[in-house]
Amino acid sequence: MLILGIETSCDETGLALYDTARGLLAHALFSQVDVHVEYGGVVPELASRDHVRKALPLLDEVLARAGCRGADIDGIAYTAGPGLVGALMVGATLARALAWGWGVPVLGVHHMEGHLLAPMLEDEHPEFPFVALLVSGGHTQLVRVDGIGRYRLLGESLDDAAGEAFDKTAKMLGLPYPGGPQIARLAQRGEPGRFHFPRPMVNRPGLDFSFSGLKTHALNTVEGCRGAGELSERDACDIACAFENAVVATLVVKCRRALRQEGLDTLIIAGGVSANTKLRAELQRALVKDRARVFYPAPQFCTDNGAMIAYAGAQRLLAGQADDGDSQVRPRWPMETLPPLPARAPRGRLPGDRRV
Ligand code: KG4
Ligand code: ZN
Repeated sequence: MLILGIETSCDETGLALYDTARGLLAHALFSQVDVHVEYGGVVPELASRDHVRKALPLLDEVLARAGCRGADIDGIAYTAGPGLVGALMVGATLARALAWGWGVPVLGVHHMEGHLLAPMLEDEHPEFPFVALLVSGGHTQLVRVDGIGRYRLLGESLDDAAGEAFDKTAKMLGLPYPGGPQIARLAQRGEPGRFHFPRPMVNRPGLDFSFSGLKTHALNTVEGCRGAGELSERDACDIACAFENAVVATLVVKCRRALRQEGLDTLIIAGGVSANTKLRAELQRALVKDRARVFYPAPQFCTDNGAMIAYAGAQRLLAGQADDGDSQVRPRWPMETLPPLPARAPRGRLPGDRRV
């Protein structure tokens, strides 16, 4: 079964072709970073317009790379939320138009479910049940996952998401958006012992997070170093290092606590911040001690991409789910409201498969 995935929830246009028998055949991504860089963040209207420009050329690209034609596609999955409403509507409209033209089923996929299932694209992937740490620009959540659509929220950020804290701290250091990779780059040259940032909420029971205090601490440190002048490169590197260490240490403490609480030994991390090499290394180090394992997506599938949407959509389309006539995009959409799939997803034909 060949599924086309379309991701347009924020500032990346991602298309991919996933075959349920052969795996991922092709994916293509256009990042709008240069479109938004001068504004220091994503401008929704510009994002929507750029998705309109890029989606069809990327569709041609994935078809060519996979050696397929549009008529080979058996179903279409697009990101229906959460995200920017205009950006979501571009992907939804394209998906529905193509599905109508090709006579195939179409399904709106939850963006965070896409992230959560991205580690399944790897050869070595986890088995259910596991704990998932979802860390992106808009979300920081710990979720117990017993199967597709079987999600229980264990904890989440009470204020800023981890990625958002990276982005805001980067801005204070004069670094461009998105800030996560920029902070990680500077942190490598930082002196770890010079500043100590707080580890928010680690001494309180529970699995919630809070990152806004850390951001304020970063601001005070930046202002203290800068005085009346410019922040030196050395100060910026040391602050980036202290900030990254604090976020990573906090995430590691909560992940271990979640695994212990749930009696599980498998963790997955997904979402843009899961590309952070320090986070990956520290989780790996900590979980070895606990005899637990951590899985993550390949770096290109940590941030937004079409492959994760194609994969998540393929599982649900195979189980018989599809949009009805009046489906809508959902800028806000709690993941726990998704319908569960049967423990063993059926392998077979898609509803309405033209090749029956
Ligand atoms: O999942 P994603 O691409 O988009 C959302 O759904 O939000 O995540 C983007 C976020 C941004 O905040 C970005 O700064 C952060 O992921 N990010 C990172 C790294 N790469 C991306 N944060 C820390 N370290 C990285 N290497
Ligand atoms: Zn995302």
